[in-house]
Amino acid sequence: MSACEVSVRQAFVVIVIIVMTQSIHCVSMKKPNFIFMLMDDMGWGDLGVFGEPSMETPNLDQMAKEGMLFTDFYSANPLCSPSRAALLTGRLPIRNGFYTSNYHGHNGYTPQNIVGGIADTEILIPELLKHAGYTNKLVGKWHLGHLPQYLPLKHGFDEWFGSPNCHFGPYDDKTTPNIPVYNNSEMVGRYYENFAIDRKKHLSNMTQLYIQEAIKFIKRMTANEQPFFLYWAPDATHAPVYSSLTFKGKSRRGPYGDAVMELDFGVGAILKELKALGLDKNTLVLFSSDNGAAEVDTAFNDGSNGPFLCGKQTTFEGGIREPTIAWGPSFVSPGKVSHQVGSLMDWFSTALELGGVKVPDERVIDGMSLTSVLAGGPEFDRPIFHYRGNTLFAVRYGLHKAHYWTWTNSWKEYNSVCV
Ligand SMILES: *[C@@H]1O[C@H](CO)[C@@H](O)[C@H](O)[C@H]1NC(C)=O
Ligand SMILES: *[C@@H]1O[C@H](CO)[C@@H](O)[C@H](O)[C@H]1NC(C)=O
Repeated sequence: MSACEVSVRQAFVVIVIIVMTQSIHCVSMKKPNFIFMLMDDMGWGDLGVFGEPSMETPNLDQMAKEGMLFTDFYSANPLCSPSRAALLTGRLPIRNGFYTSNYHGHNGYTPQNIVGGIADTEILIPELLKHAGYTNKLVGKWHLGHLPQYLPLKHGFDEWFGSPNCHFGPYDDKTTPNIPVYNNSEMVGRYYENFAIDRKKHLSNMTQLYIQEAIKFIKRMTANEQPFFLYWAPDATHAPVYSSLTFKGKSRRGPYGDAVMELDFGVGAILKELKALGLDKNTLVLFSSDNGAAEVDTAFNDGSNGPFLCGKQTTFEGGIREPTIAWGPSFVSPGKVSHQVGSLMDWFSTALELGGVKVPDERVIDGMSLTSVLAGGPEFDRPIFHYRGNTLFAVRYGLHKAHYWTWTNSWKEYNSVCV
């Protein structure tokens, strides 16, 4: 037997031992699951726990009681699609390329109109989690580009049930809202024709479907012992707001409140399912909204930004400060209120750290991991930059905020002061 043969055999034995210990390691070290619950145009003041006087969000209030409530948490942009792109890339829109010029933003163009969709060179959190063995599902609104090459299954999601755009209508025909609903890569219907009962009466079954789709996915992942990332992004609080018949007329706040109540019910149903399946100990659930409530004077949207100035589209607090809750007994110190100045982009870094996934280091990531804050550790200082389009409008640092521009551009009074 030559020396070479011996070393090959030894190497083989070493490899077998490594493979065996790796697989034992995989079995014993369960990866945590992540659920990002992102609401659409819901305001800071819409939750009972943030002071909404009707107190119609018992499940979210309970979630805050069992978890951590964040008072000073921001979206990365005051508009839906750049805010969502920032959440999923951990990067400001001016870095990830999904932004407009301020001129475009001012005239109602979204990044899809200008750049089409999220660039292939961007790394989304589901792509990173997938490499670490996760299965990723989006339930709800995507908004990172509606052309085929930009859809969720092309950017790291394994599954998707929902719509590519806002449900007020497609961009080519605003008079007949007929945006598609997808099940994975297959179009299964149109938002209003197939899933709504009556648009004018603010009736639709979509939130119920989004709740069922989330629960079915969680059950299936549990049965397969599969770590998962669920991005739950229902859009019922975006104009035109809707709820199902069960919640119709239940709120003291009108159709908008009905939508909030149904979403609150959904949050409760999902958390209940996690507890029933014994997943509560191994799942981090994060709840927030993509931007502030829109200031529109109709039954379209009556969201509340609490005590804060202005709303969606603006970088005043009402446009960017979000109702944020973290929940998960193993990761979140219960019953705490945190004044940590946070960003939705932090969810990216936080989940990657807990999932044992390396944050990309060849590009700038704007999110910061909040794992130690969630565990009850000290809060830390950091600046938050508020852009609109490609223009830096304001900076928050500590208890101070500098405004470089004070354009309001809310829908309520274009270019005038909003209150
Ligand atoms: C989506 O597709 C999957 C797999 O093809 C199927 O099992 C499921 O029932 C579909 N869901 C809906 C809501 O169409
Ligand atoms: C919506 O759900 C209700 C109650 O479950 C059902 O009766 C109705 O047919 C559904 N409508 C559509 C359009 O799916």
